[in-house]
Amino acid sequence: MIQLIIANNYEDMSKKASKLLISRIKDTIPLNLGLATGSTPVGLYKELVTEYANGNLDFEHTRTFNLDEYIGLSPYNPNSYSYYMWKHFFSHINIRKENIHIPPGIFANEQKVIDDYEEAIVQAGGIDLQVLGIGANGHIGFNEPGESLSVSTHIVELKSETIKANSRFFENKDEVPKKAITMGMGKIMEAKEILLLASGKEKAKALAQTVKGIVETHCPSTILQIHPNVKIIADKEASFLIADRIRASNNCILFSSDRMEQYG
Ligand code: GLP
Repeated sequence: MIQLIIANNYEDMSKKASKLLISRIKDTIPLNLGLATGSTPVGLYKELVTEYANGNLDFEHTRTFNLDEYIGLSPYNPNSYSYYMWKHFFSHINIRKENIHIPPGIFANEQKVIDDYEEAIVQAGGIDLQVLGIGANGHIGFNEPGESLSVSTHIVELKSETIKANSRFFENKDEVPKKAITMGMGKIMEAKEILLLASGKEKAKALAQTVKGIVETHCPSTILQIHPNVKIIADKEASFLIADRIRASNNCILFSSDRMEQYG
């Protein structure tokens, strides 16, 4: 079941998302939080950092598991997702270093890295709340559209459209790594609760498919329809193709913005 909450704009989306996370961080101890990168959750991290700075939040008992990383980039590379996470979030809060998990982009033994990442999530007791962004082609983490989807953490060849979309963060398209390591859709679907964020008209088509489309591997985000507890917070631009048409859908309930207050 998907609950779709429409936000007025990017700032509103970030604030609504932070409200939900703050409530889970306060109520679930310890909390296993799955985290995403990309431009979409930057505002969410900013809100959480502000709450922490104001003394309203404690990350002492929070463990994090990031979705993915580019193959070949070290944590010191400003384009790596590890660098991103420290820059936008971890450096500003009191999370314990040993509670942070990000798949490495450079390694000697691929299978060991995969097994260790899977094991770390299992040992922690699974993910309580998984934050997701969405690619314009419906990818989740780096689970790209294709004939099949992987259950576990795996190495993936990035689609040309993903390389193109993500090249905006690099000096040029050739610098974007061609491969990534990502949590599999199976592990993502095992999370007890999922929060997907979407902002901007570039995501409108993928978002419409996510909530209304046929569940299929060529749009990985459609799999979320069969998860029991998914919330999507999308701004008006990202939801313009669906917001007025989904009230009667079996898979998705549309909440007015105010209903989000219940998570506060
Ligand atoms: C990358 C990440 C995804 C993210 C997507 C969208 O490919 N691997 O986890 O959801 O980009 O990014 P953005 O939020 O910048 O649009």
